[in-house]
Amino acid sequence: VIASFPRIPRYSINPMKIRKAVFPVAGLGTRVLPATKAMPKEMLTIVDKPLIQYVYDEAREAGIEHFVFVTGRNKNVIEDHFDRMFELDTTLAARGKKAEIEVLAQNQPEAGAVSFTRQQAPHGLGHAVWCARDIVGNEPFAVVLPDELVLNTPGCLTQMIQAANQLGEKSNLVAVEPVPDHLTHQYGICGVGQRHASGKMFEVSTMVEKPPKGTAPSNLSITGRYILQPEIFKILETQERGAGGEIQLTDAMIALARTQKFYGVEFEGERHDCGSKAGFLRANIAYGMQRAELRDGLIAEMKKYLGK
Ligand code: G1P
Repeated sequence: VIASFPRIPRYSINPMKIRKAVFPVAGLGTRVLPATKAMPKEMLTIVDKPLIQYVYDEAREAGIEHFVFVTGRNKNVIEDHFDRMFELDTTLAARGKKAEIEVLAQNQPEAGAVSFTRQQAPHGLGHAVWCARDIVGNEPFAVVLPDELVLNTPGCLTQMIQAANQLGEKSNLVAVEPVPDHLTHQYGICGVGQRHASGKMFEVSTMVEKPPKGTAPSNLSITGRYILQPEIFKILETQERGAGGEIQLTDAMIALARTQKFYGVEFEGERHDCGSKAGFLRANIAYGMQRAELRDGLIAEMKKYLGK
């Protein structure tokens, strides 16, 4: 039997045929050292799942069929995470641990549905996405940054694919969220053009990566979810280094926006930047509070600490 795990259901919400998602996972995770010295930051755990599993699940919910991980050295454990663990399967089966077997089965990608390629040097997000060009090929695709989680049902990527389907035309989309004015210099920022009739989208009038303080065109930051047309790869190929001396995805998007439309999607949900210490702790509380079996105990513990 080839497929001993259940096949992942195909979803019908995706007529724009955004079938592939790229996960750039080569980053060094310097904001949370020493946790990420020997372990990839994408394996940091929120409650009982690594970050990478949350974004994989989000993409799967959105109808993505092929998952492309752009990894780097020291990231092998991500590949192991999406493989089967025969010792574990056999031992759990022998012990009759049905619930645990079910958890593993749910997390298991179908054989052939994941690809791994390496970004050999840290040249930036744009370069990481470019590394996936041959695996993605000539079709629209999603980019999902794993250190950002968005807590919502439906997930952020589902909302974006729904938005892409509403547009029904060849276009690019970025998820955006307001940030306080004094933080705009840490993000890619979008200028707001004409609003779409749906109310939740607007045409992006301009984009800038990490604008110097006081120069941002708005306070709408680009979050870690994109839907891009494959023409971005040609632009990335010759993209010059931008902010921070890195090949920036935003700069390539600015170039693509000269010939194609870009929309900003104001998604529903709470964004958590798990690549920062405070964000990581907050996400553990937020996701923990969603779990019926943990909620009451967590509230009691937090009350204790708040009383101190
Ligand atoms: C990247 C993008 C930036 C975006 C951010 C979201 O920046 O380049 O446009 O706003 O992710 O987290 P990084 O966090 O890699 O510096």
